[in-house]
Amino acid sequence: MGFIEHIPGIRREPPRRPAPVQKRIGVVGLHEGRTLVLGLDRATKARAVAACDLNAEKIEAARRERPDLFYTREYAELLARPDVDVVAIYTPDPIHGAQIAQAFEAGKDVICTKPLVNSMAGARLIREAGRRTGRKLFVGQSTRFFEPFARQRRAFEAGEVGDLELADAHYIHRMDWFYEKSPWAAGATDWVFLGMSHPIDLLRWYLGPIEEVQALGRRSALGARYGLEGFDIYIVNARAASGKIGRAMGHYGVHELPTARNCIELVLYGSAGTSLAQYHDMRYVHTAPDGTEVTEDPLYALRHYYFNSEVHGMHYGEFANYAEYFAAALLEGTPYSPDLEEGLETFCIMEAVRRSAASGAPVAVGAVIEEAGGGAAA
Ligand SMILES: NC(=O)c1ccc[n+]([C@@H]2O[C@H](COP(=O)([O-])OP(=O)(O)OC[C@H]3O[C@@H](n4cnc5c(N)ncnc54)[C@H](O)[C@@H]3O)[C@@H](O)[C@H]2O)c1
Repeated sequence: MGFIEHIPGIRREPPRRPAPVQKRIGVVGLHEGRTLVLGLDRATKARAVAACDLNAEKIEAARRERPDLFYTREYAELLARPDVDVVAIYTPDPIHGAQIAQAFEAGKDVICTKPLVNSMAGARLIREAGRRTGRKLFVGQSTRFFEPFARQRRAFEAGEVGDLELADAHYIHRMDWFYEKSPWAAGATDWVFLGMSHPIDLLRWYLGPIEEVQALGRRSALGARYGLEGFDIYIVNARAASGKIGRAMGHYGVHELPTARNCIELVLYGSAGTSLAQYHDMRYVHTAPDGTEVTEDPLYALRHYYFNSEVHGMHYGEFANYAEYFAAALLEGTPYSPDLEEGLETFCIMEAVRRSAASGAPVAVGAVIEEAGGGAAA
C-alpha cells in the first residue's frame, strides 16, 4: 500500500476499462513529454491522444511505443484538434511562454512542466493571456508528486511537525549529460529556473508567499566547460511574509555522493518534530512523538510505478500523479496547486534570486511581482 491514495483518482494498476469521463491530453516536446505519454497508463481521469515534436526521429520513436496517438511536427495542428482538451508542454524553457499563450488562445487548458517561464516577458505574456481567455493552467512541479514528498505533506498537514520553524531544500545533480542532450540549457536559460525551480517551489509550498531573498551564486568548472553564461551553483536564504524562514541550495556541476545525499531533499524542522523527504531514493524519515527516528522506504513496492523499473530518476509516476490530480480538478471544478498565479509568483521568487545572486544584495520579491504585472498592479 502506498502513500499517495489521498490524491483523488490515483490507481496503481492500469485501468481495466476506461473511466467514464477523461481529460484528453496532447503532449508537445517528446523527451520528458514521452514520460508523460507512457506514465498516463497509470491514470484513470486523463489519457494521451496526440503528441507533437519538431524532431521527426522523436516522433517515430514515440509512434513505435504508442501507435494509437495522433502525431504531428506542427504545434498549430495539435492545437487545432477538437479531441485535445489539455495541452501538456515539455519543450525547452524559453519556448513555454509563447506555447502557453497559443494554447490558451486555442481554448485549451494547460499543463506546463517546470519552470513555467524563464523571463519577465514570458510572465507578462501568459498572465495577460490567462486573464483574457480564462483558461486553466497547472505547473508540473513533479517533486511534490513523488511518494515521500506527498507523504511528508500529509504528515505536515496533520500537524506532525507542529509549527514549521525552518525549511531546508536542495536539488544537486551533475549535468554534463544534460548539456550534451539539450545544448539550449547552457545559453537559453539559467539554473535558477531549470534546477532551482524544485527547491524554491518547495520553500514556497511550505513557507507561503516569500517576501525577501538573499542569494549567492558561482559557476562550476563543469558549467564553465560547457560555456554556461549564468551561475550553476546557488545558495538562497528566504524569508516569508509570515516571518518563517528557509534555505534552498543547488549545484549542477557537482560530483555526486548519491548514497549520502539524494538529488532532491526537503527537511522540515518544526516545533513538534522533524521530517525528511528524498528523491530519487524513496525514503521518508521522520521523528515519532517520542523522538525516535522512523524510516519509511517504499522503493521496492513502488519503483515500477514511479520509475517504470528503469533508472531511479525517471518521472513516470510523478507526471501521472499530477496529470490525474489536475484532470480531477478540471472535471470536478475543485481548486488545485500550483495554478497560474502561484506559478507566476514562483517565477518571481526565482527571478529575485537571480538578481540577488548577480548583485550580492537582498531582493524584495513584491517589487518583482509588480514588475511581472501581479500584486498591487493586478
Ligand atoms: N522533473 C521535471 O519535471 C523535469 C525534468 C526534466 C526536464 N524538465 C523540463 O522539461 C522541459 C524539456 O526538457 P527536456 O529535458 O525534455 O529537453 P530536451 O531538449 O531533451 O527535449 C525538448 C524537446 O522539445 C522539442 N521541441 C523544441 N522546440 C519545439 C517546438 N517549438 N515544437 C515542438 N517541439 C519542440 C525538441 O525537438 C525536443 O525533442 C524543460 O523545460 C525542462 O526544464 C522537467
